[in-house]
Amino acid sequence: MKTLSLLALLLAAATARASDSAGLKDLFKDDFLVGAALNQRQFEERDPRVSELILHQFNSITAENNLKWGRIHPRPDAFDFQAGDAYVAYGEKHHMVIIGHNLIWHNQTPDWVFHDEQGNLLGRDALLARMREHIRMVVGRYRGRIHGWDVVNEALADDGTLRQSMWYKIIGPDYIEQAFRLAHEADPAAELYYNDFSLERPEKRKGAVELVKRLQAAGVPITAIGMQCHSRMNWPSLADEETTIQTFAALGIKVMVTELDIDMLPPAVKDPTAEVSLRPMEYDPKLDPWRDGLSDAAAQAEAKRYAELFALFRKYRGSITRVTFWNVTDGDSWLNDWPIKGRHSYPLLFDRDGKPKPAFDAVRAVAAKEYPQ
Ligand code: G3I
Repeated sequence: MKTLSLLALLLAAATARASDSAGLKDLFKDDFLVGAALNQRQFEERDPRVSELILHQFNSITAENNLKWGRIHPRPDAFDFQAGDAYVAYGEKHHMVIIGHNLIWHNQTPDWVFHDEQGNLLGRDALLARMREHIRMVVGRYRGRIHGWDVVNEALADDGTLRQSMWYKIIGPDYIEQAFRLAHEADPAAELYYNDFSLERPEKRKGAVELVKRLQAAGVPITAIGMQCHSRMNWPSLADEETTIQTFAALGIKVMVTELDIDMLPPAVKDPTAEVSLRPMEYDPKLDPWRDGLSDAAAQAEAKRYAELFALFRKYRGSITRVTFWNVTDGDSWLNDWPIKGRHSYPLLFDRDGKPKPAFDAVRAVAAKEYPQ
């Protein structure tokens, strides 16, 4: 325990001035882009803790929430591009590879999208017309500026079948293909991604492979599969992670890690996934063990887990073209409020003050090849 604490102190001292040395984007420049999901305060440069850090460490950005349907197209006749415009302008100003997240999802999509003015469910053609209008408007507005889009997000259920979303129920299984074709029409140069979580589960991975193959057979322009990689200490196994990367790479498309984090908190449900629509649960102090800070041992274990994952990503650098963290600091993470509000989560490389954690050093060591690979 003592040794671990000393090691943690040494690591903290060594990394206290992470901005003095090369950032992750430079360390991995021959391997893949290194990105982060930003919240609005961050891309509006109103978060002084991390303004410099973001520019120093990352060369790609994803909008955590501000391009989602509910934010950008809240009512049938109203688009609100204010935050989206600021996000894209920030990325351009700092020469970042800008990612659009996302166009078609079952979540954060207002109810009106699926209903007519009388409240009746739309039919296939009417919903396709709405999809067309939305994608044309949003992708068209940022044509040539947003590098790649998560066109369809989380369309698979855990068992690998297509999720019974409103999109699926009203349009049918070809809604995915339609969305990709519309996005391609609106910006023929944009990269187009299918993005999902828990793809390391064998059934879901199989479902994703079948989906990509169907799209490819139909001549749909899909550039990459986005593996969200919302991970835990004990899931997925490195073997499952590796098989998943290999399997997707074999499809002949790019592979991207799009929403990386490692949840250090005890699971709130029996079989946790990144299913956002999970019902919020009551706060329980037993499920929030790190209120006063992560223990040294846990921080070291997290560092090791990050190193193992990055060593794997590096091994497949020919196929993996981007690794994006879901948020910048532990304090920003969605995991502080999901599925229980107000917990203290530690899933990222930077602490609540924007200071590098042992996990940051561990990832740097992988880039410097100081970690066995
Ligand atoms: O902005 C409102 C605020 O005005 C209001 O007072 C507050 C009350 O709860 O809610 C705020 O909105 C929240 C928003 O995050 C901003 O913090 C929403 O309730 C909350 O649902 C929303 O959660 C986001 C979630 O997606 C749902 O869209 C998370 O920030 C975001 O990190 C998360 O990201 C998803 C990816 O898009 C897809 N993959 C999984 C990933 C993690 O869940």
